[in-house]
Amino acid sequence: MKLIILSTLLALATARVVDNKITRCDGIIVNGINHEKEVLKEYTDKPYMMSIDYDTNVLFYTYTGPHATSFIPAALNLKTKENYIISGVSGGFATSVDPKTHKTYIGGADGIYGFDYQSKAVTKLDITTENIWQVFAKDGVYFTTYPDEYAFVYKNGELKKIAGIDDNKAMLVGLDKDDNIFFSNSSGLFLRPKDDEKTVKVGEYTVNSFTADANGKLFFSTPTGIFSLNEVTKNDAKISKLAGINNIYGAVVESDGSLIYAADNSIVRLKSTGQECSEQY
Ligand SMILES: *[C@@H]1O[C@H](CO)[C@@H](O)[C@H](O)[C@H]1NC(C)=O
Repeated sequence: MKLIILSTLLALATARVVDNKITRCDGIIVNGINHEKEVLKEYTDKPYMMSIDYDTNVLFYTYTGPHATSFIPAALNLKTKENYIISGVSGGFATSVDPKTHKTYIGGADGIYGFDYQSKAVTKLDITTENIWQVFAKDGVYFTTYPDEYAFVYKNGELKKIAGIDDNKAMLVGLDKDDNIFFSNSSGLFLRPKDDEKTVKVGEYTVNSFTADANGKLFFSTPTGIFSLNEVTKNDAKISKLAGINNIYGAVVESDGSLIYAADNSIVRLKSTGQECSEQY
């Protein structure tokens, strides 16, 4: 009897070691949980400016074309992995999806276009003729220009500089659920609280993307990680680092909360293994 118990214990102990090997914290730690990488799209040069239509589960992005001569927008169906290259936007660098209307915008070298995923039709919108760096759609079309780095909003048929940024420079803008405006330029990350008179600096980050999840919560990425913005007040915002990843070009959040990031040559989903790990960064 003792022998049986002993050998059972031994078997259990061995199983635990094997188990440990399988689930050790060798992936990417997101919020203290180990994650595996799942490559969603390979061979895509510097995918940038990603956005998701949460209605259709389509991820829009742009990448650097052959010989680095232009930027090409594309759409990746996150369920079927079908990838579609969008033609008709020269220098298409920016993508954004309005969370309410589900309208898809593509910013190019000569303005902003609408894209319809069903018909695959691209339509030039009568908003601007400027070279677009980024678009952030949320009850209006917020965008920045290149190389001037001016930030505009097009709303109710009117085009204006974004109040609070005005003639200052902004490379990227993002609005949180409550319409507080975050923006970045080479001096760092700034917050312009909604209906407030003063802009505050919230940190020294080299932001390369802003993205809102399916609930409107705002996230941003830098070349070394993915962060969320929480507890926004008139004077500050709490920044949480979700994951430390090197050489990333941008990030988006799927409707189930999974992170997708752009690596140098691919688009990668982080899948939870459920294994708790202490932070590695
Ligand atoms: C970045 O924006 C802040 C706030 O508007 C401004 O004070 C700063 O001059 C800007 N930086 C650059 C390089 O323009």
